[in-house]
Amino acid sequence: MTESHAQTRFAKDFLSILDLSWDDLERLLRLSAQMKTDRRLGPKAPSASTLAGMHVALLFEKPSLRTRSTFEIAIRELGGDTLHLPSSLAEGIREPLQDVARNLERWVRALIIRTFAQDKVATLAAAGRDLHVINALTDEEHPCQALADALTMRERWGDCRGRTIAFIGDGNNVATSLLQVSLMLGITVHVASPSGYELPDNVVNAATRVARDGATVARFTDPARAVDGVDAVYTDVWASMGEEAEAADRRRVFAPYQVNDRLMAAAHRDVIFMHCLPAHRGEEVTSQVIDSSASVVFDQAENRLHTQKALLSMLVS
Ligand code: CP
Ligand code: NVA
Repeated sequence: MTESHAQTRFAKDFLSILDLSWDDLERLLRLSAQMKTDRRLGPKAPSASTLAGMHVALLFEKPSLRTRSTFEIAIRELGGDTLHLPSSLAEGIREPLQDVARNLERWVRALIIRTFAQDKVATLAAAGRDLHVINALTDEEHPCQALADALTMRERWGDCRGRTIAFIGDGNNVATSLLQVSLMLGITVHVASPSGYELPDNVVNAATRVARDGATVARFTDPARAVDGVDAVYTDVWASMGEEAEAADRRRVFAPYQVNDRLMAAAHRDVIFMHCLPAHRGEEVTSQVIDSSASVVFDQAENRLHTQKALLSMLVS
């Protein structure tokens, strides 16, 4: 992962932020900003035929508003067509996942999949040698979200090097991908989680290896210490999809980690508030914070579209 990888071939798949070199990430964010500007050109946008004559398959085993909507719109705006697959295919019961991939690659250019285990996404990507596989969220990672988060921070700050972001809450899929992309952009990351819900050591160690420009990770249990002076505060739901049975227990454990006006006051004066959405107002964040002028959550949601158009375009070209 060095500058000398500049202009090397973009990876076949996008399963993790760690699939990108620094140069890939830079090119992807620049193209995302271009896609955003060009969108007003509609069918006259230079990217309008990028996926002409191609189908892209979508397979979602968990609910989605943002990811599904933005990928569908992205595919259409790039001139492609969608194929909706039944979620049961991802169970690998009717036929092995390897065979699913080897069928799909004969018909479609890419597969966008939201599932539980990251291993499933990796299995499909390994089996479908001509199939671009995109991770639309697993239990472990949410790399498409992190691309939109990165674009949002770039829009606010320009060069992100030397900034600091605090992630408050569960050391989950969103926290993992945010950590990776932030360190790659030279942003220091503070993570505050209750004991037992921290980011795993192997995740932190792998992300630290791609850090640049002196960015580091610091782990806290006290959220007030984690947000002291930071430029952005990020949180996510306390119980992710698939963890619904733990929701009541988690509400008790995570209560001191709520992002509210008091916590935001300990951050930098120009702090921004970030959330991948959906938000559980009154739990991990108050309505006052999410509706405040510091909040960029709907910019993040909008940027899902532009970054995913750039991603699709770079994968297929
Ligand atoms: N942030 C996000 O991925 O939203 P959805 O679950 O609605 O796709
Ligand atoms: N951590 C959340 C993110 C939703 C976009 C979940 O996995 O449910």
